Amino acid sequence: MHTPTTFIIFGVTGDLARRKLLPALFDLSRKNTLPRPFRLVGFARADHTHGQFQEFVRESLAEQYGKEDIAADCDEFLADARYQQGEFEDPASYEHLAELLIELDGHDSKECSNKLFYLAASPRFYKPIFQNLADSGLTIPCMEVKGQSAGISSGAGWPRLLVEKPFGKDLIASDELERMLALLFKDEQIFRIDHYLAKETVQNILAFRFSNILFEPLWSREFVERVEISLFEKIGIEGRGASYDGVGALRDVGQNHLLQMLSLVAMDDPKEMEAPFIRNARAAVLRALRPVSAEDVKDRVERGRYAEYVKEEGVSAASTTETSFRVIAYVDNERWRGVPLILESAKKHPEKKTEVTVYFKHTERCLCPPGAEHHHQNILTFRIQPDEAISVVFWAKKPGFATELEPKRLSFSYKESFEKERIPDAYERVLHDCIRGDQTLFASTDEVQAAWKFTMSVLEQWHTLPLVEYNRDI
Ligand code: BG6
Repeated sequence: MHTPTTFIIFGVTGDLARRKLLPALFDLSRKNTLPRPFRLVGFARADHTHGQFQEFVRESLAEQYGKEDIAADCDEFLADARYQQGEFEDPASYEHLAELLIELDGHDSKECSNKLFYLAASPRFYKPIFQNLADSGLTIPCMEVKGQSAGISSGAGWPRLLVEKPFGKDLIASDELERMLALLFKDEQIFRIDHYLAKETVQNILAFRFSNILFEPLWSREFVERVEISLFEKIGIEGRGASYDGVGALRDVGQNHLLQMLSLVAMDDPKEMEAPFIRNARAAVLRALRPVSAEDVKDRVERGRYAEYVKEEGVSAASTTETSFRVIAYVDNERWRGVPLILESAKKHPEKKTEVTVYFKHTERCLCPPGAEHHHQNILTFRIQPDEAISVVFWAKKPGFATELEPKRLSFSYKESFEKERIPDAYERVLHDCIRGDQTLFASTDEVQAAWKFTMSVLEQWHTLPLVEYNRDI
């Protein structure tokens, strides 16, 4: 595919770029799935020459894969990598970046490349970055640019913008960002990232629901008792005290990752696999979430924090930030009215596990011996990570003369079933889809707004609740 593409990372020396983006790009390059020619451009505050930047990328990749593993492919990946030192708030830095990009386009192909701008910088710089990108003309497709120098022929040269979460820290801030984006960019240029949507096993929730007739007819309040959606991590805040404190678990993973999983579990059949249909169906669920009120906050919400949290670097001694929560959500529509969908997350949890579990209602009649417990409940679990799997608990008769039933599990494990296929990292998928221009696995304005509305209803009420301390061992 001959599509000159330039991938520009703002904040390229940060943690996200080092741990996720550079390895994901490198993997796509090794799989030959990147368009060609492909150029990486890093933008950050630190002073680097192009050569030092290439060395920085090489070291970041070696940390992930080991020196030997990257040796063969690294030179090719880095041959065209360039660096632009700059300040996010300084318009002149964007002029320099524009000059570098024009020069790169001119030198090689004499064609205008497609440009992807990835915001891996702190969210406090989002507004200045949006504004400066727009002011410098970097977001205008080449075909609309008149009189560009360097003898570049006009191609489509679309620019796209990849914006990491958090998308604002509350509804007001998020709406403000949206208004600004809407003024400066076209919707098809904006890719709001929630990397959970791009996880293979999260995508499989839809595939499973709408490609198997077995469960979809039961997928409603008539047959489902409750749904639990949980994201537990063994790790704490890992040195992110300064940015995590004042944000907390609900904003960090609830407003986005958990609500996106909820939307996939609860949405109606989108009928078409196209992005607008799927995004609208997800948004419809989020819009139907019943807000938490002053009257029901005590019954629907809990919050906690791990015991050592206030001793973490960057955390205020007077902090009231939560590192865990449990919220009972209700989707007020025909399909789900009255069914609790329980969202739960904790850092420093004894076990790392992300799961979606659907508990079906007990059988109405029990064909069991007199006096036996009425316990026939089927449970379907999507194990999102680790040990990705899907399993169903069903009841079977124990061999013997007595009629005794026992719960058994039917299960499918990714590792066993797809031995040869590696599950792609969510960031590979994010980058791949953005390059192709497919917005399906990215959040729309409507989704972000509806998710914030629900989250705000919790945040506005939960100061009345105690912040319960927990220990990992409990
Ligand atoms: C991020 C949060 O969005 O998701 C982190 O900011 C969290 O706090 C992470 O640890 C979890 O993602 P994953 O892919 O490791 O489950």
